[in-house]
Amino acid sequence: MNTYQIAVIPGDGVGVEVIPEGLKVLRRVGEVTGSFSIATTDFPWSCEYYLAHGEMMPKDGVDQLRSSDAIYLGAVGFPGVPDHVSLWGLLLPIRKEFDQYVNLRPIQMFEGIPGPLRDKGPKDIDILCVRENTEGEYGGMGGRFKEGTPDESAIQVSLFTRKGVERIARYAFGLAQGRRKILASATKSNALNYTAVMWDEIVAEVGAREFPEVEITNYHVDALAARFVTAPETLDVVVGSNLFGDIITDLGGALQGSMGLPAGANLNPERKYPSMFEPIHGSAPRRAGQGIGNPMATVWAGAMMLEHLGETEAARLVMDALRHVALNGPRTKDLGGTAKTIEMGDAIAAAIGARVTPH
Ligand code: IPM
Ligand code: MN
Repeated sequence: MNTYQIAVIPGDGVGVEVIPEGLKVLRRVGEVTGSFSIATTDFPWSCEYYLAHGEMMPKDGVDQLRSSDAIYLGAVGFPGVPDHVSLWGLLLPIRKEFDQYVNLRPIQMFEGIPGPLRDKGPKDIDILCVRENTEGEYGGMGGRFKEGTPDESAIQVSLFTRKGVERIARYAFGLAQGRRKILASATKSNALNYTAVMWDEIVAEVGAREFPEVEITNYHVDALAARFVTAPETLDVVVGSNLFGDIITDLGGALQGSMGLPAGANLNPERKYPSMFEPIHGSAPRRAGQGIGNPMATVWAGAMMLEHLGETEAARLVMDALRHVALNGPRTKDLGGTAKTIEMGDAIAAAIGARVTPH
């Protein structure tokens, strides 16, 4: 039996409330399958930690995570610490230093949880977003000049490298090859005449050379956003740069019916470094502290972790349990119910191994 070393960073806000539920479900599915257990190490890095120590994590923080099999992260950011300080102090350095260049975000609806689109349901919405996660608009380079003067200015540089675009394109094509063989690429090469034009060229090259069976369609990201709403069934795998991927995956999350649902995997596909799994909803400061956050996104992130660790059957059981609860309840506030975070976690754990009610 495998024991996985999981580094746990609950972080801020609802992160600290949903992570224990995710771990509960992971432990439960380990018992039910009898195929693995998890050993967790908790890292208290957060905005609270920042206020006490003047940094989001210790200088050697990333090194402390290095030997883990995976990282399970709640959320980062809380009022009292500027968001760019907390995020550049914790989440973004982990993504970059562990070269987690794929941010994989599935957009799928559950039967039983309505989305905001009148005529679209689980059969219409099944989009796998592949977001570049280490460069692009999040290069982190630039500066502020003549601050506080009438001549104040700021520069934020986008960095697109051939290597970076090639590898994210290759990863997305690989997924598309195993699915509907259509790949949508988010671009904006009408306005971004250097970076996005190079992006388009490299995506086309990788496709022509390595994935001739996959049909590529380039969509300007504004039109793609509209298409998410008007014709999501025409989309299957979508690849985009860091910022474009960020924006369209929140849109996708909203289409799922609640931001309490969507999960993401920050992957280092070569497995040279640990990968990191998180709900994409953030710390939700207004909901925090009440025990009402929906743990489903965190549980889903846990299923993605299991998939990454090779525990395919366990991952499937977790997704089935989520489907079961989506259909039968209980429901947290975001889904129109009154269940607490813990009740929801208990229900998902209890549904592991239950049959999904046919409909
Ligand atoms: C996400 C978040 C982060 C991002 C923020 C918190 C920096 O929105 O994971 O999508 O933009 O990557
Ligand atoms: Mn985001």
